[in-house]
Amino acid sequence: MLDADRLETLIRDNLLVTRLRVIPELVSTQDEARRLAESGASPGTVVFAHRQTGGRGSRGRRWYSPEGSGLYFSILLGQAGDAATPARWTLAASLAVCRACRDYAVPAEIKWPNDILIRGRKVAGILAELRSGPSNPVLALGIGVNVGQREGDFPDELTETGTSLLMEGGVDCGREELAAAILGQLSTIAGLMYHGDWAQVREDWIAMACGIQGAPVRLRDDAGVAAGPCGTTAGIDEGGALIVRLEDGSRTILHSSESLVPMET
Ligand code: BTN
Repeated sequence: MLDADRLETLIRDNLLVTRLRVIPELVSTQDEARRLAESGASPGTVVFAHRQTGGRGSRGRRWYSPEGSGLYFSILLGQAGDAATPARWTLAASLAVCRACRDYAVPAEIKWPNDILIRGRKVAGILAELRSGPSNPVLALGIGVNVGQREGDFPDELTETGTSLLMEGGVDCGREELAAAILGQLSTIAGLMYHGDWAQVREDWIAMACGIQGAPVRLRDDAGVAAGPCGTTAGIDEGGALIVRLEDGSRTILHSSESLVPMET
């Protein structure tokens, strides 16, 4: 079980976090964050669950959320103006998680836009969703990290692609400490976002990302089949979208990885 008192102590000085809730079981911390946003909860409200029965990943996928081994939480953030879009916050949050994982001596890197990988296998993911508040829309940033799973703990569909900090040799991965480290990094990065310094966040994100420059990719065709044009990645644009240079010399901009056939990493 996540120790709520310990977590509270560890994040006491975090300027971003205004309120902490730790709930034994939720369908999804994102749903709870939406409910809190609708009832007027302030930005900086964070909700953790020991386990989720319907944890959501991006593109309608499920997020495997058993009790005892993972970290599942959502934080409500004020958007900080039009420039701070969900796409940019997704990158900002992935930077925070990647940095916190590296504190545990693992070679974590970011796969655009929202995956944290270690040696090519996914250890964490981010889900950014805009929610309506009583006055302004608020952003719900959901973060899931595989912390203490062992080989064999993952469901079949994740055995090849999923990993945990423990499996990758992360040292002393207490979930409360990791959560505090992520929220600490997020607080620093949010400071940049709120001061309009997206350029710095983007630069820092690029330094930790893999596969965004010169990596061969294939796009899906209109039917969703991996039979679209081939190309190579050519960086991310100002908004955080992925630029792909196609074989015919044209460029296309991707806003989600939906039309991208998984890149070899
Ligand atoms: C992804 O990589 O597909 C995004 C995964 C996001 C998972 C987290 S766990 C906490 C929060 N609640 C959810 O239902 N999803 C996010």
